[in-house]
Amino acid sequence: MLRAVAYRSVAVQGIDALRLERIVEGAQRFNRMAGVTGAMLFDGARFLQYVEGPADGIEGAIGRIRASADHDRLHMLGDAVIDARRFPAWDMSCLMQPNTVLDRLFVARWGRVDHALDDAGTPAGGVVLLRRLLERPDA
Ligand SMILES: Cc1cc2nc3c(=O)[nH]c(=O)nc-3n(C[C@H](O)[C@H](O)[C@H](O)COP(=O)(O)O)c2cc1C
Repeated sequence: MLRAVAYRSVAVQGIDALRLERIVEGAQRFNRMAGVTGAMLFDGARFLQYVEGPADGIEGAIGRIRASADHDRLHMLGDAVIDARRFPAWDMSCLMQPNTVLDRLFVARWGRVDHALDDAGTPAGGVVLLRRLLERPDA
């Protein structure tokens, strides 16, 4: 079973490029092993992350994410069972984005456990917005 989770959080004060690099490296190391793919967006103050993969891998990643002292105020945006990965080639690099982009993603629909993620596949859905961003990072 594949599971997809999206959440938002607030970075602790004083996160710099080096710290961000450590976060991404740690995430990539674990995620590769756990079969987790996805994307992380950062606007300088807030994170939005989308992870997808086998349920046990996602549980492990979420445990590490929750335990991280680099951010707080985690808020789940979506948590759904999916039939196929949406971002199989995305290995959790961190994309810097303006806060207006994160604002839009925070209010997008991300799918719930009791709905299929396809629910979020509507034009306003978070997955659709995210895919557009990842395919054209400069757009
Ligand atoms: C915004 C954010 C996203 C993260 N994403 C992941 C992730 O996808 N997978 C994972 O295993 N850990 C993830 N982590 C945990 C970081 O990799 C971890 O905090 C980093 O390795 C630093 O570890 P340390 O606190 O032991 O120095 C995330 C942490 C933050 C703050």
